[in-house]
Amino acid sequence: AEDMVANPPSEAEETASAGVANTSPISTVLIVIAMHTEAAPLVSKFELVEDGDKSMFPKGVPWVRYCGKYKDLYINLIWPGKDPALGVDSVGTISASLVTYASIQAFKPDLVINAGTAGGFKAKGASIGDVYLTSAVAFHDRRIPIPVFDMYGIGAKETFSCPNLLKQLNLKVGKLSTGDSMDMSPHDESAILANDATLKDMEGAAVAYVADLLSVPAIFLKAVTDIVDGEKPTAEEFLQNLVIVTAALDQAVTQVIDFINGRCISDL
Ligand code: ADE
Repeated sequence: AEDMVANPPSEAEETASAGVANTSPISTVLIVIAMHTEAAPLVSKFELVEDGDKSMFPKGVPWVRYCGKYKDLYINLIWPGKDPALGVDSVGTISASLVTYASIQAFKPDLVINAGTAGGFKAKGASIGDVYLTSAVAFHDRRIPIPVFDMYGIGAKETFSCPNLLKQLNLKVGKLSTGDSMDMSPHDESAILANDATLKDMEGAAVAYVADLLSVPAIFLKAVTDIVDGEKPTAEEFLQNLVIVTAALDQAVTQVIDFINGRCISDL
């Protein structure tokens, strides 16, 4: 019975919906969240349950699926889980890409939402606790100094635009730059500047790459835990603000989910 609540009708049961995804209401949403601290309040809020059926993912992976029905939406919240060897959250682009790929294949979402925390640049207007909907993503640590490969490495992409969602919700808009380090090397700094980014995270552009490959629209909600161009050491400021900023992030995710409910992709 739990399965009937958590899983949408199969394709065979819903042949009528084929090809009209943009003009029928969004049914299935995939939320990708890298850290357990960020995910836990949303699991409670949407009354999601950890999926007992582990056959959706390869045997032995630490990935965790929380699922359930909230209003008219089938929500799949995927957390890459804890590193099997070290026991810390599997942050970064590799885990994010893998879980996004496997989850899109398994759950066929109409929309991907990557939610998480990020460093913000005060020179671009970011403050602690701000929540952004990103307008574009790029990488800042993939340097390939050969023509065209250089652009491939940077991988700049505009993200799915949601003018109506933005009109409705009180979110800031800015560009996001992604890399696999939390600190910032001098090269990272110039690449982030070249990317015109307001935000710096460790997953966004990777999730965007996979969602784009598989032609699923994706949006990015990022809340600022630390000011990269400020005085405080990044890791310390991040850990200090993680829990409080997560509350702002999760409130924004809830508002976005409430907005999405009953709407089509083309209404966003
Ligand atoms: N997540 C939160 N703060 C971050 C930072 N400064 N860099 C990368 N990812 C982050």
